[in-house]
Amino acid sequence: MVTVNHNYLRLPGSYLFSTIGKKVRAYKELNPDKEVISLGIGDVTQPLVPAIIEALHNAVEEMAHAETFHGYAPDLGYEFLRNAIAKNDYQDRGCDIKADEIFVSDGAKSDSGNIQEIFGTDNKVAVCDPVYPVYVDTNVMAGRTGEYNTARENFDGVIYMPCSKENGFLPELPKEVPDLIYLCFPNNPTGSAITRDELQKWVDYANKNGCVIIYDAAYEAYISQDNVPHSIYECEGARTCAIELRSFSKNAGFTGVRLGFTVIPDELVRDGVSLHSLWARRHGTKFNGAPYIVQKAGEAVYSEAGKAQLKEQVGYYMRNAKLIHDELEKAGFSVSGGVNAPYIWLETPDKMTSWQFFDYLLKEANVVGTPGSGFGAHGEGFFRLTAFGTYENTRKAIDRIKSL
Ligand code: MLT
Repeated sequence: MVTVNHNYLRLPGSYLFSTIGKKVRAYKELNPDKEVISLGIGDVTQPLVPAIIEALHNAVEEMAHAETFHGYAPDLGYEFLRNAIAKNDYQDRGCDIKADEIFVSDGAKSDSGNIQEIFGTDNKVAVCDPVYPVYVDTNVMAGRTGEYNTARENFDGVIYMPCSKENGFLPELPKEVPDLIYLCFPNNPTGSAITRDELQKWVDYANKNGCVIIYDAAYEAYISQDNVPHSIYECEGARTCAIELRSFSKNAGFTGVRLGFTVIPDELVRDGVSLHSLWARRHGTKFNGAPYIVQKAGEAVYSEAGKAQLKEQVGYYMRNAKLIHDELEKAGFSVSGGVNAPYIWLETPDKMTSWQFFDYLLKEANVVGTPGSGFGAHGEGFFRLTAFGTYENTRKAIDRIKSL
């Protein structure tokens, strides 16, 4: 008899953004005349910049001719892209990362979900609370957690590191030592950022205790302050304790194009085994490479024209972030984030729960956000708005919220 993976049955409900999508579709069906503005899922709205479009067109043209056609990509990524990443994202920033330590993928969501596969199921996982749901859900699917605890609204067997207003939405070093530590900075969902000195403490802690940090830096392009690191490899000793995940979705608008990468330094060894070699084995077995066309588009991100155009695009979204932050603050909301990240984290008014505020905003303002409790128990009473809308819609949404 066929059995299923019972670990999946521990997951309550559907994936956060699927639940939100369903609720919004239902509302729109009942209210077809209403103009609903989404500041919910962190999906970009601005078109790909000209340098990237040009690279895509050129690559498509190459695919039309036998002499320049490309079939399967090398499983770890084309050299031209891995070299561009190593130079621009790391070496130019003083980080000691080589091209062959970079694994090109179809995005950071898959990598952040898949990376746990190379670790034993007996590893203890630590996550921030609130947290991007993929880290926890994929560990649940793999059987690395206990049951869902309905009273605590989280999983047994996971170390949750509360990120609250009191600690500035920055986790404290856990007292119970974990094996795997997921960190995401600039943070999704709270929009908080960690300083280089603070991150150094995590690197030192991980090296001292033999932990591995899985560092999600998908939002690094939004950093505006000098003391905030773009990469964990800016910290001393990170090569022996950290894996870094990066995305092209938020810095270059690739949410619908799909491209990302993971960095695993050669020195990162646990249980006597190189994690680089394990991930290479996994990548080679389960992945046939990101498309040539898409990798050429990724290369254009690092061209002079690409860099200039993307700086402007990031600036466009950060203008939205400032607008949301400042206007809601003026209106009396308690807000944070939005300075080094495209997310604004606000306290729900009048002691509403996160989902009550979600329903209220959808119905009364026709604005969609993301309930903080969807990211974990400590997100309850909070709400996330994204700066990835158009400026016009963002302005309209904030005016509507203010007029409630
Ligand atoms: C979010 O809204 O949290 C992000 O869009 C999720 C993602 O990048 O997968």
